[in-house]
Amino acid sequence: MSSIIDGKAVSLAVKEELKARISELAGEGKRIPCLAVIIVGDNPASRSYVRGKIKAAEFVGIDSRLIELPENVQEEVLLGKIAALNADPLVDGILVQLPLPAHICEDRVIDAISVEKDVDGFHPQNVAALWLGRPCIVPCTPKGIIHLIRSTGVEVSGRKAVVVGRSNIVGKPVAKLLLDLNATVTIAHSRTRDLAALTREADILVAAVGRPRMITGDMVKPGAVVIDVGINRTEDGHLVGDVDFESASAVAGWITPVPGGVGPMTIAMLMRNTLEAYKARTL
Ligand code: GUN
Repeated sequence: MSSIIDGKAVSLAVKEELKARISELAGEGKRIPCLAVIIVGDNPASRSYVRGKIKAAEFVGIDSRLIELPENVQEEVLLGKIAALNADPLVDGILVQLPLPAHICEDRVIDAISVEKDVDGFHPQNVAALWLGRPCIVPCTPKGIIHLIRSTGVEVSGRKAVVVGRSNIVGKPVAKLLLDLNATVTIAHSRTRDLAALTREADILVAAVGRPRMITGDMVKPGAVVIDVGINRTEDGHLVGDVDFESASAVAGWITPVPGGVGPMTIAMLMRNTLEAYKARTL
């Protein structure tokens, strides 16, 4: 039976630390960091994620601005809002909740956010800097995953890591961060042949494919660290990950639950990125 990696507890510790640092700023009479969140339309999942982000900002003492735009908003209007936030000296971080409606070009929107305020780390300049090993804003979910892996105390250097999924938001950046920790990294995806043989070799297994309970216990190496990034809703309304928790937790050494694993870490790292963006702009 594996140990559970408690993302809720680890993220709370991160947020408590940020709260203390921000209250110090306030105590010194300094300006408070500010995060602007833009949401377009009313996708229930996106609304719920955004609520979580605003609530976390409130908890740590970061000012937040929520900008809600209708589903049919013109791209130009959204780009105009971003330009205004870029120019606003009181705003440190800008996040546009994805996905966007089909009539809006996501790339154009991401490109429009000022690199220094891009707390998601999605801007091509931040992505390039990450891959070049230069200072950058690291995307929140991959950053949270690394924090969780480190919280286990398991050695990463020299170990085999398999990342299942190749998205720009999770799969690719987390692979780079694992590489930076000297893991031997393989990125697997929907065309990978004999996925189970590959995942069974992984000392660290990150599942970020968006397919409910796809990684089963027989695909896990005994003792492995298993990180489940999936948030899938079943027909009866339950949240399940990309990992079949019941069978995988019988084999793994460490495993994240869904919910209460990676999800809360993403939000905690967004708060950390906002404070880091504030510091980079203020100092
Ligand atoms: N949609 C799903 N995950 C994310 C994220 O990390 N950032 C943004 N902006 N949108 C998302």
